[in-house]
Amino acid sequence: MNYRNIVLIGMMGTGKSTVGQALAARLGWRFVDTDAVIERNTGKTIPELFAGEGEAFFREAEREAVAAVLKESGQVVATGGGAVLREENRRAMSEGGLVVALLCSPERIIERVRTDSNRPLLQGNLEERVHTLAENRREAYTFADLAVDTSELDVQTIADQILRHAK
Ligand code: S3P
Repeated sequence: MNYRNIVLIGMMGTGKSTVGQALAARLGWRFVDTDAVIERNTGKTIPELFAGEGEAFFREAEREAVAAVLKESGQVVATGGGAVLREENRRAMSEGGLVVALLCSPERIIERVRTDSNRPLLQGNLEERVHTLAENRREAYTFADLAVDTSELDVQTIADQILRHAK
């Protein structure tokens, strides 16, 4: 493996955590979710942070988590869907390993996150929120070294594609 880490980026519901855990198991690497790091560092859940401290506070905690995690090696890192919005985070990701964008149709994302109440940015009209976020963020995911559309693929097939590229 030529890379220090594999960094997964992409919208909520594209499969970063599921694919990340499968990749980590196959490589014998650690799986790290930056949202979980933020929750551990702050002692609050993501919904609590958005409701109590606001999105700007969350984004700052996210910047710190991304920088700290990517100083380490031998990890598959799942990042929050909005982490790519900051140039500083994109740079840390590119320097920290192979950056893989997981893409997915809005329709499949909506199916996957419908019963999930842990995503503050999807509160309200789910269809409208997902389509708007997908549109606004499409460009922000294009700096990835590799992109995989997860809409119709199973987890191990996605992992195969990423590992083939990484070797
Ligand atoms: C967010 C995605 C979430 C989490 C937070 C904000 C976003 O992570 O970081 O709710 O801005 O897209 P997942 O992509 O892991 O759901």
